[in-house]
Amino acid sequence: MYKGFIRPLLFLIDPEKVHHLVVFFVRLLSGVPGLNNLIKKALFIKHKSLKTTVAGLHFNNKVGLAAGFDKNAEFFDEFAAFGFSFIEIGTVTPLPQPGNPKPRLFRLPEDKALINRMGFNNKGADYAAAKLRKRRTNIIIGGNIGKNTATPNEKAPQDYLTVFKTLYDQVDYFTVNVSCPNIKDLDKLQDSDSLADILGPLVKFRSEQAIRRPVFLKISPDISFRQLDETLEVYSRMGLDGIIATNTTTDRKCLSYDADFIVKTGAGGLSGLPLKQRALDIVRYICKQSEGRIPVIGVGGIMTAEDAVDMIKAGAVLVQVYTGFIYEGPLIVKRCNQAIAEYLSSRIEQPEVHYVS
Ligand code: FNR
Repeated sequence: MYKGFIRPLLFLIDPEKVHHLVVFFVRLLSGVPGLNNLIKKALFIKHKSLKTTVAGLHFNNKVGLAAGFDKNAEFFDEFAAFGFSFIEIGTVTPLPQPGNPKPRLFRLPEDKALINRMGFNNKGADYAAAKLRKRRTNIIIGGNIGKNTATPNEKAPQDYLTVFKTLYDQVDYFTVNVSCPNIKDLDKLQDSDSLADILGPLVKFRSEQAIRRPVFLKISPDISFRQLDETLEVYSRMGLDGIIATNTTTDRKCLSYDADFIVKTGAGGLSGLPLKQRALDIVRYICKQSEGRIPVIGVGGIMTAEDAVDMIKAGAVLVQVYTGFIYEGPLIVKRCNQAIAEYLSSRIEQPEVHYVS
């Protein structure tokens, strides 16, 4: 129904407009008494193998909605009904900002991909905090935090700390986003000194609070493995709680579109299927280097249930979707959870075979 009827209609309209349209209808429908519960019952998968504890947070299943979809914490309550166990709001910056000029979101249907250069368009930390205070569902909420575009990198730590403090009592975990390719020089904050300057004040503030909020780091798929090793060193030094891998890529090599189209579309982060292999490689690398000690939330190119299982096989403890949700519709959440449950329970139930030579 989604792919045969709803998606072709939605794909006739400008992608950013569709986003607002879909949100409008989901919110409208969730006002119908009982409907939200009905959808939740149909889409939420409960299975003991899916229950996951990361940094003291108990996730009811393996699938979350990635950052960027609900930038202002405006509709996570309604979207919780689609069966996610967690939703990451943001990226939130200290002050409101409009983001980049439109158009800034493009579909690449032949490659099941999106290119976006939204540029942290959001209504600011106070607005998000006010919305989160009215939260109705008990779904786990992550706060993805960033700096304002106009803030120079030297002053970035103050921006991250401001949002961290503003949202501290409202979210269940934080994601430090230094990997968005759409903010000039943001990626430079991924070098170990800059990263330590940003993370240091956050973990210090956290140590002074009654509740310890987990802090995850969201990384780019475009960093080298050497850079990733340095990141893992900072991760351990700072006492972080997990890594979200990955954000969108600036790489265009995997696209089947011709060069003219790619040039015309312009700069931005590529998400969806072409990102899958790189995201898997990064997840696998982190899990191997840390010998499974770092909880990794795998995101990037999960378009089918099999992709989600691949991410779990690579070592991810949880997964997130964004582009797959746009292309496949809300059923993707259920399908991914079902497939992961099948995979995990088949592993548990089959006794290990020991070959005797
Ligand atoms: C994103 N993503 C993103 N990530 C982030 O940390 N902060 C953000 O504000 C956004 N904004 C955003 C907008 C749009 C339109 C897209 C498509 C993506 C990145 C997203 O969370 C995810 O990491 C990537 O999209 C890779 O996952 P998928 O889309 O391949 O499942």
